[in-house]
Formats: sequence, C-alpha cells, structure tokens
Amino acid sequence: MKEPAADPARDEATSRHRPIRSFVRRAGRLTPSQARALATLWPRFGIDPPAAPLDLDAVFGRTAPRTLEIGFGNGENLAELAARHPERDYLGVEVHDPGVGHLLQRIERENLGNIRLARHDAVEVVNQWLPPASLDEVLIFFPDPWHKKRHHKRRLVQPGFLAQLARVMAPRARLHLATDWAPYAEQMLEVSEASAEFENTVAGGGYAPRPETRPVTKFERRGLKLGHEVFDLLYRRT
Ligand SMILES: C[S@@+](CC[C@H](N)C(=O)[O-])C[C@H]1O[C@@H](n2cnc3c(N)ncnc32)[C@H](O)[C@@H]1O
Repeated sequence: MKEPAADPARDEATSRHRPIRSFVRRAGRLTPSQARALATLWPRFGIDPPAAPLDLDAVFGRTAPRTLEIGFGNGENLAELAARHPERDYLGVEVHDPGVGHLLQRIERENLGNIRLARHDAVEVVNQWLPPASLDEVLIFFPDPWHKKRHHKRRLVQPGFLAQLARVMAPRARLHLATDWAPYAEQMLEVSEASAEFENTVAGGGYAPRPETRPVTKFERRGLKLGHEVFDLLYRRT
C-alpha cells in the first residue's frame, strides 16, 4: 500500500508531546551573506531566551515608545518603520532564519540601531519574555493563514493569544493586524470585537482603510498578485 505523503504540519499538530504552534520550522536555505550576518550581527542585535522577563530599557539602551512586530518575514516593514521613526524602538520576532539574516544585513547597511530581534516563537516571547504593559504598539502583518480547517487551531490570532497580548500592551496601545485571506480577516474581526481588552478605532467598527503608513511587504505583494483583497484591522488596548 502506498504511504501517505509526509505532512509535517499534521504530524506536529497531532503529536501529544508538542504544543500547537503557528509555524512549522523548515530548514531554510541561508545565503552565505545571511549566515555571516547571523554569526556576526546576532550578538549585537539579537536577544537570546532570557532567564527572567526582559528589561527593555536595558535591551535598547534607552527608554522610548516600543513596537513589537510578530512574524516580520524578511523585515521590510520593520526596517522601513525603524528608519522612519528613530525616536521609537522596534522589537521583531521571527522563526525563519533566512528572514532574520536578511533583516540583520539591512540593519547593518542602514545603521538601524533601534531594532532588536528574537528568533523564537512569538507566543513564548509574549508570555515569558515581556513585562506587563511594556509595548505601545503591536503589528501582525500577513500571519500564516492556515487555510485548512484542521489547521485553524494554529492561527495566531485567537482569543487566548489576544488576551496574552493585552497583558504586555500599555493602556491605549495600538494593535494593527493585516491579512489578504478573507476568512482569516473575518476571524480576526470576530475575536477582536469579542475582546473586552480591545476597542476598534474605526468609527462604526469593521475593517480600517489601508493606512498609507504601512509599508508593502512580500506577502502583501503576493496576495495582491493573486487578486486577493487586503484587510487592515486597527484596535486600541482599552
Ligand atoms: C506569511 S509570513 C508574513 C511575513 C511578513 N509579515 C510579510 O508580510 O511579508 C508569516 C511569518 O510569520 C512567521 N511566524 C509564524 N508564527 C510565528 C510565531 N509563533 N513566532 C514567530 N514568527 C512566526 C513565519 O515564520 C513567517 O515568516
């Protein structure tokens, strides 16, 4: 009998020993320059898993308003915002090493001293690394949509994770979500509207007009090429 095709996502999701994660670690191919960036620049811009919650003033070497971007991909958005807003600090979390290497190269090239990176599951970063009320903005752009029904439990934007995010966000902090997958946009809207810890910044509720300030990313370009509509959601911590 023919073996079913290997499905790492299903194997991991059904394993009794592993938590359900919003990503599957794949051995990404690092270019030599990305590998060099990881080896030489990580000690300066990377944050390794800490034994206790981070002191972000010590991490960034100053006190400043702070943005967290979850799943920054190759870092286009993070680098662009960090260059535009030198007065703010940016913490990026990504598990895909080639993307981290790519962004590190750009950080060096453009001298972006206000970015720090974590190569770790954002759920653990939020729950274990970050102190309460330490962020004034959280960005989640084009998170993996997990199209199949049996994988929906892997989607990052869920009631439990929003509650965890609320803990680390200061009062009035901004939560900006974007996706090109309409059913996920509906889920985002539903769980955000149901949360007492977030209020929609759009008068009358619903999706926000695309803020011109949001840089276009690789996954937005991909979605647009496929003819997908892009949805933005803009909430504020109550
Ligand atoms: C579809 S890509 C979008 C990347 C980027 N935001 C963009 O718009 O081009 C989603 C990214 O989220 C990352 N990711 C998914 N779950 C994550 C998690 N729990 N912690 C950190 N990164 C995660 C993936 O590795 C992937 O690079």
